[in-house]
Amino acid sequence: MSDISRRRFLQTVGVTGGAGALFATMGALGLAPAAAAPAPPFRAPSRADFHLTGRGAQKVVILGGGVAGLATAYELGKAGYDCTVLEARGVAGGRNFTVRGGTTETDLDGHTQRAAFSPGISMNAGPARIAQWMVTLDYCRELGVPIEVFTNQNADALIYNESTGALVKYRTAKADVYGYVSELLAKATDQGALDGELSATDKERLLSFLQSYGAIGGRTAGWEYTGTSRRGYAAYPGAGHDAGTPLAGPGSLADVFASNVGRYFSFEFGYDQAMVMFQPVGGMDRIPYALSRAIGPTRIKLGAVVSSVTDRPAGVEVRYEQAGRTRSLTADYCVAALPPHLLARIPHNLGADITAALGAWSVTPSGKIGLEYRRRWWEEDLRIYGGITETDLDLSHIWYPSTGYHSARGLVVGYYNTGQNALAYGALTPAQRLERALTQGAKIHGDVYRQGVAASWSQAWHRTRHLEGAWTGVPLGTPAYDLLLQPRGRVYFAGDWLTHEVAWQHGAFTSARAVVTALHQRVMTH
Ligand code: FAD
Ligand code: PHE
Repeated sequence: MSDISRRRFLQTVGVTGGAGALFATMGALGLAPAAAAPAPPFRAPSRADFHLTGRGAQKVVILGGGVAGLATAYELGKAGYDCTVLEARGVAGGRNFTVRGGTTETDLDGHTQRAAFSPGISMNAGPARIAQWMVTLDYCRELGVPIEVFTNQNADALIYNESTGALVKYRTAKADVYGYVSELLAKATDQGALDGELSATDKERLLSFLQSYGAIGGRTAGWEYTGTSRRGYAAYPGAGHDAGTPLAGPGSLADVFASNVGRYFSFEFGYDQAMVMFQPVGGMDRIPYALSRAIGPTRIKLGAVVSSVTDRPAGVEVRYEQAGRTRSLTADYCVAALPPHLLARIPHNLGADITAALGAWSVTPSGKIGLEYRRRWWEEDLRIYGGITETDLDLSHIWYPSTGYHSARGLVVGYYNTGQNALAYGALTPAQRLERALTQGAKIHGDVYRQGVAASWSQAWHRTRHLEGAWTGVPLGTPAYDLLLQPRGRVYFAGDWLTHEVAWQHGAFTSARAVVTALHQRVMTH
């Protein structure tokens, strides 16, 4: 549909159908946010489903007490299914792991850490942000987990590129990059370079947009970007005749592009990211805590390491090691909510094709360090309230806390990296990781970065017991992926790795919902 006929069509709908119809039609055309989702809405199983059918809720063993396993037990529990969750670690939640004072863990290399964080200080070692459309927020609402804003992008945070020497505030970088891009495009447009693409009216509209977007001069000023107050100030304006002291600059167009300060701008454009995101108050693990409470803690066996899965016509037998003893549990159904690379290692009789399919997922390493400071110098000295500083250093990102503003202490995430950088930090001892993180971070923040560190914790996900990775590369569209979307015998598979939203709890939750729906349908129809 051409623009003109599309507009006429919308006008017609608007006249005859009112605003609601207009909005829905715009949604159908992809012009307005539409609620249309391909998956049918989830309906939790309920006890009422069994009335009149003579059927009853059955026994289900769930392997893994991460978000997917817990959500499975929680949803099935609504209909009275007799669920048992076997979780290898000492705490439920899996990758949803919040470190507080007293948290202790030994990694696969034998490094033991005990967090010495102060009361009220915590670190989300895994998930830390939630986008507004994610089902994760629906679970927070349903479970009564309070949420607060997570500042994902902050105009007052910094960009530091060691390779070019650039150290600027985000707002300054944006003003300069948007300004010069606008200048170039305006010049090209006005000089006729786009005459084949644009009508005279389109050109004027584009030029008017670029003038406001980039804060550039008009035609008589040659469309030039010369810098404006958008860049920020060395001293901000105040009363009377105090007009403030503008920042020096901007540098030339060539200098700004050479500094590469725009290298990370596009991150927040991702539909799964945004400037404003959310986090549970008190730590991300409030979600598994609330799920565990709703399931009933006696249904969750901690320190229970699954060692074999045997599917039989009458039921599934699962063996597990707990407190030095081998135990066994038999259930009508099993939901394997373990990471694929770990599930592949567990002896089972599900078939060689299942083991082979599990090998199709690649594992991504990732690491984070949490630094508790005795003083919130980023707020007091730099006036950075939350958000992220982006850098080409091996730290990749420095996160300032989106909570506890103006309190005495705070926790900064000193690195959050993946790939080679995560492997490099992960290969060090926790003390060496801290030293490297401080040395690198001091390149951005100076001496203050080394001062007043009260405690730290570093998580190398690929070296973490019972997880051995941060998330996986998903072989979408392959036979391996399609195979594991189906149950094998009485065994179902769940986890963020079986979704289009890997590396997000939304994936774990939606996978759990899909398995719960399929399993319940089977129970209701067999
Ligand atoms: P897991 O959490 O991996 O659960 C699997 C469970 O199986 C674990 O509890 C494990 O201990 C257990 N297990 C393993 N082997 C055995 C065994 N033999 N016997 C018994 N149990 C076993 N998501 C967001 O929503 N927002 C974010 O900002 C975000 N950031 C992230 C950052 C990092 C660094 C990481 C690592 C993850 C992040 N995620 C984020 C992703 C999120 O954590 C996951 O998508 C989600 O937690 C996965 O849940 P799951 O249940 O599928 O898997
Ligand atoms: N969900 C994780 C995070 O937000 C991992 C991720 C990073 C996923 C970037 C997509 C994009 O940190």
